[in-house]
Amino acid sequence: MPSRLSMTLQGLAVSALTAVGSVVVWTKHSHFEPMDLATDPTIKSLLFSKFNPNKNPPFYDVCVRRIPLSKLDTELIEDARKGGSKLVERFAQGIWAGRGFTIQRLLENYQHKNETTKHQLWTKRDLRESTYPIGTELADHFNVVDRPNSTAILFRCGDSPLKSPDGPRPSDGLFEMSAETNFDSGFAEFRLKTIFYQGEGKAEKAPFAGEWFMPWVHRVYARIWMETGVGNCKKGMFVIE
Ligand SMILES: *[C@@H]1O[C@H](CO)[C@@H](O)[C@H](O)[C@H]1NC(C)=O
Ligand SMILES: *[C@@H]1O[C@H](CO)[C@@H](O)[C@H](O)[C@H]1NC(C)=O
Repeated sequence: MPSRLSMTLQGLAVSALTAVGSVVVWTKHSHFEPMDLATDPTIKSLLFSKFNPNKNPPFYDVCVRRIPLSKLDTELIEDARKGGSKLVERFAQGIWAGRGFTIQRLLENYQHKNETTKHQLWTKRDLRESTYPIGTELADHFNVVDRPNSTAILFRCGDSPLKSPDGPRPSDGLFEMSAETNFDSGFAEFRLKTIFYQGEGKAEKAPFAGEWFMPWVHRVYARIWMETGVGNCKKGMFVIE
């Protein structure tokens, strides 16, 4: 179960951002797609079975945003054509250094930055410059656990990366950012996939089963992150303030 704290953080961040702007209009280009648990590569991965050994039911959602390649930074598109990973890295930089994550980042800084966690990424600048190799830890709440291919970065979330790094923990999640280019259709597709589960012990129900509020807050948060991430990949547009 993702910790209540992190859910409170999401709620605070969402309400603050909702108050300042018309989030609905700003984020209207994203939609949510169904996910097939039987075939999804993250659910099928060894990492997921390691962190969720009892196969507890997960909460999940997938936020998707399509955008014409012509709107994106040419350098990133040329790199993608050669099989490079700069597009998904720029997407991640935009999300972590962007304003959608600012409130949670500052609260995490305040509560969890100390001698033990100072090697992690905490500042906007660090988050904007990292290329997110496996092992990167940020804001004591996310760490890169896999780079399955050149278009995806897989983070672990839901608790501190220092807690049970190689085994299950009560509050856990996997969060994948991906950016794929399709040169035939002329579009890029950005995705944010969230999977939350109770890793330790046995759970009958998925986190938030039967609830509507937290899933809704989470979707708003994902849509906001999507815009700051994609915005950072656009031509001549560094939206990071
Ligand atoms: C990259 O890996 C992710 C996660 O395993 C998968 O969903 C995606 O389809 C892969 N993309 C490509 C282009 O192979
Ligand atoms: C630093 O913060 C982490 C995360 O909150 C905590 O687990 C750890 O005990 C703290 N360490 C010190 C030395 O305060």
